[in-house]
Amino acid sequence: MVRIIIQKKIKDFNKVISVNSDKSLSIRALLIGSQSYGICKIKNLSRSEDILSTIEGLKKLGVSIKFINNICYVYGNGLNGFDYKKNISINAGNSGTFARLILGLLVQTPYEVKLIGDVSLSKRDFLRIMTPLEKFGVNFKKINKNGLPLKIIGSEFLKPIIYYEKKGSAQCKSSVMLAALNTPGKTTIVAKKSRDHTELFFKYLKIPIKVKKKNNFDIIEIYGEKQFKSFNYVVPGDISSSAFFIVLTLLSKNSKLKIKNVNINPSRTGFITIINKMGGKVKLINKRKICGEIIADIFVESQKFFKSIDCPVRLNSNAIDEFLIIFLLASKAKGISRFRKLEELDKKESPRLQLASKILRKMGVRVILNKGSIKIYGNPSLVINKKILIKNYQKDHRIFMTSVIASLCFGGKWIIEDMESYKSSFPSFLKILREIGYKF
Ligand code: S3P
Repeated sequence: MVRIIIQKKIKDFNKVISVNSDKSLSIRALLIGSQSYGICKIKNLSRSEDILSTIEGLKKLGVSIKFINNICYVYGNGLNGFDYKKNISINAGNSGTFARLILGLLVQTPYEVKLIGDVSLSKRDFLRIMTPLEKFGVNFKKINKNGLPLKIIGSEFLKPIIYYEKKGSAQCKSSVMLAALNTPGKTTIVAKKSRDHTELFFKYLKIPIKVKKKNNFDIIEIYGEKQFKSFNYVVPGDISSSAFFIVLTLLSKNSKLKIKNVNINPSRTGFITIINKMGGKVKLINKRKICGEIIADIFVESQKFFKSIDCPVRLNSNAIDEFLIIFLLASKAKGISRFRKLEELDKKESPRLQLASKILRKMGVRVILNKGSIKIYGNPSLVINKKILIKNYQKDHRIFMTSVIASLCFGGKWIIEDMESYKSSFPSFLKILREIGYKF
């Protein structure tokens, strides 16, 4: 196990950076590409460990994937075109998105497929996927309660369903959307708002889909078993990765940062709305549309004062992966910040709400945790002078990166274990920190 020790704050910086390509879009490009007819050409595919697990899993299912000059080529065999031997096992590693979405593409598998994952993924809830897929006619064998491993066996006689997605989970919605692709007839999904990358991808490829947007939910209709052609795709930068550098810049002194080519899909920018309400002044410039998604450059400058926030619950799903880093800003804000209905945070790669409150307390921040709600008592003059040890966090990449940013902004001597964890989503995280001047 490798640990990192940080005992200096970061110095002023003024830089232009690019972060890793978006994880959600990279996984979707590979999975949807595998269902197309012909050769897909995907530029800027992320090379994080979650994406490598996706590539390995698809290869096991008989999909050919090659890299030539850094461009990824996916050889699609059409809908339900997987070709594999009996008794295969797919290892999703740490990736909840790959694990949950691939089940949606296996609804017609003639042989049993076993799905396994790492320790953290194995503990996560797959009942949320098994329940709707069973309604299509799919069968599951549970091996470890509602987690992994599990076995899926598809059906030739699938029937479309009406599915109510009430958690605001894009993984649940997308898994059902991919199942609908391989099912004859019209599947209807009534989904609480969540990131809409799969919908936009379907529209970009002209796959038959209708989306009616209501205030708190969307009604999505998909007409299945319509073959579609291969495509070219360019994956933009990941806003969830950018979030760490945005908060680092805000909390540092006299620094400026531009992050190029980031996906700013409104269903992902809850984080920007929240930190701007707190006084962040983050600007999105040079907006344009590529492959159905909106891209922009992000500009941010250090700020001296932050306000506390009573965070609107409607932003929860749009900022779901960014709350840990938002909590750091709340620690430095004037007043008490409140975040509610964040139960889903405890169902991520680690129990994030629990762990965040432990880390904040170690930092000397007063926190009150009550079920899914957290109150953070901000301290505008927060400085840390002691030793802080971060361990046993289930190698959650976002806990690791949040801890590194906290150490660089607030000081103290931080020892953070399981250093390799950040690679599951953001392999160039430490490299970029070096680029902006931090010497490890
Ligand atoms: C994702 C959806 C979210 C998010 C995850 C990626 C996706 O999970 O936390 O990192 O790509 O669809 P939930 O669907 O569990 O909210």
